[in-house]
Amino acid sequence: METLTQVEPLTDSWGREIKSVRVSVTDKCNFRCTYCMPAEGLEWLARAEVLSFEEIARLVAVLARLGVDEVRLTGGEPLVRRDLPVLVRMLADTPGARDLSLTTNGVLLDRLAQPLVDAGLRRINVSLDSLDHVRFAELTRRDALDKVLRGLEEAERHPELRPIKVNCVAIKGFTEDDVPRLAALARRKPYVVRFIEFMPLDADEGWRDDQVLTGREIRALIEAEHGPLVELPAKASSTAKRFGFADGNGEVGFVSPVSEPFCSTCDRIRLTADGQLRTCLFSRREWDLKTPLRAGASDEELTALLRTAVAHKELKHRINEPGFVRASRSMSQIGG
Ligand code: 5AD
Ligand code: SF4
Repeated sequence: METLTQVEPLTDSWGREIKSVRVSVTDKCNFRCTYCMPAEGLEWLARAEVLSFEEIARLVAVLARLGVDEVRLTGGEPLVRRDLPVLVRMLADTPGARDLSLTTNGVLLDRLAQPLVDAGLRRINVSLDSLDHVRFAELTRRDALDKVLRGLEEAERHPELRPIKVNCVAIKGFTEDDVPRLAALARRKPYVVRFIEFMPLDADEGWRDDQVLTGREIRALIEAEHGPLVELPAKASSTAKRFGFADGNGEVGFVSPVSEPFCSTCDRIRLTADGQLRTCLFSRREWDLKTPLRAGASDEELTALLRTAVAHKELKHRINEPGFVRASRSMSQIGG
């Protein structure tokens, strides 16, 4: 039997303890959201470069032993990775990986919600940027709103899968008309609707600071329609500010990385589909875990590498500073 030893937590040079890893399982996607991917021409990783389920599970197990107890699967679009429920089962069975969740565009969820729940998934985030068919298609470059709504309804049929979070990337001059409708969705359905500020992570490099619709602006739009919101308590490491409606019915959230950065409480690292560790969404540097992993590195060697990488975790993003340099990859290649 394994003896319980006290492991030194994974802590960065600024005193932040790493508790959460986002694992990208593929760089591919069946959408082409304008704020993320180019319409065409993005090159996919070669198959051999992409980590196998066994390799992902090994790295997650090593991380979990270091106290990283939150695992979120992302992409690209994670549900296009074949047999994803098999990986979910492996991670659900990993000691210490307490909180397992998934971020998806929802388009394959009507088929996959059941197998994912059966495999042990307990939490889900679904991206939904507009409730208007035309605007949805304009933004995602796919006419798939009804399919995503069906996926959400299927998720709703599984009470094990809670909370269901709906994420909307808010863009100025575009999202305003959807804000009251998405807020109404939060009141009508068991979905926590969260508005996320547009960040400079789009492959087209079209981001401008005047395209950021801030959390504060969205809150005002919601309150104009639905009355005053009441702030709800959130975890210290939470990226979102949570709000309820005055009658207690429904919850919305604001994730405001641009206007109200939360870097000082960031407890996250990211693993790309090709096995590179990123300590920040805006990292200019990656740490290669795949090569040592495939060369037969021991858990101790991987742990030492992880500690070195985390020691170099960036203090904060510099989106709002002059001379800001974009990340070397776009969101679909990093993993949201
Ligand atoms: N800014 C903010 N959020 C983004 N996402 C993708 N690109 C961006 C961006 N440029 C979000 C998606 C999804 C998650 C995977 O990342 O909305 O919720
Ligand atoms: Fe695909 Fe998500 Fe990027 Fe949209 S945001 S293109 S759904 S990876």
